[in-house]
Amino acid sequence: MFYPFEMERYLETLLGERDPLLQEMEEQALKETIPVVTPTVGNFLNLLVHMNRAQSILEIGTAIGYSTIWLARAAERTGGYVTTIDLNKDRLRRSLVYFERAGLRERITAIEGDARKILPTLDSKFDFVFIDAAKGEYLDYLSHIYPLISSGGLLVVDNVLFRGWVVPGSDFAPKYERMVGGLRQFLQELCQNPEFSTTVLPFGDGVSVSRRIS
Ligand SMILES: C[S@@+](CC[C@H](N)C(=O)[O-])C[C@H]1O[C@@H](n2cnc3c(N)ncnc32)[C@H](O)[C@@H]1O
Repeated sequence: MFYPFEMERYLETLLGERDPLLQEMEEQALKETIPVVTPTVGNFLNLLVHMNRAQSILEIGTAIGYSTIWLARAAERTGGYVTTIDLNKDRLRRSLVYFERAGLRERITAIEGDARKILPTLDSKFDFVFIDAAKGEYLDYLSHIYPLISSGGLLVVDNVLFRGWVVPGSDFAPKYERMVGGLRQFLQELCQNPEFSTTVLPFGDGVSVSRRIS
């Protein structure tokens, strides 16, 4: 995290008492170092789904289903449904147990596989897409996702500033060079796409929000 940890903690306190299942998942993710969105980002996703009255929601990168539950809880209120994709069989299996416990099993379709292979096979439009999978593959997902977003639909992407290293002049280990370069290219492409109106928010690990305007 590139902005003060205390600030994120403070923002978390403003969320109030979180539901025990989400708290359990946060603790589990921390214990196993499974990277999940921060509670403030989860809450933000939930708010955006509400605000946009999203009905069809697509997530790339389920892990154990933490962000999926934030999305699906909002979908309960909008009458929407969530499709989520992950290539990790074990994580996806565990997410199904959490969905069941959250009472959201009927609202979520979980697809196992590589998003780069699955996305081209999807033929329905989505009015909310959330990307949170392999950072170095974001550009690959984008070309497949563009045609899937309905007019007025939102595309939200996590980790776009990746520890702040995406900002030119940052210091990071050479092994991250490719990923950071990929994220820079991704943001360039997204922000310059005239079909989308985009903003990048420097909270969590950097979150981009784009709306399809044509
Ligand atoms: C950051 S975690 C997702 C966290 C989750 N969105 C949350 O906040 O609770 C990223 C996930 O993306 C999955 N992933 C990575 N590359 C993928 C790909 N090409 N297709 C599908 N899933 C992928 C990984 O298996 C991992 O579980």
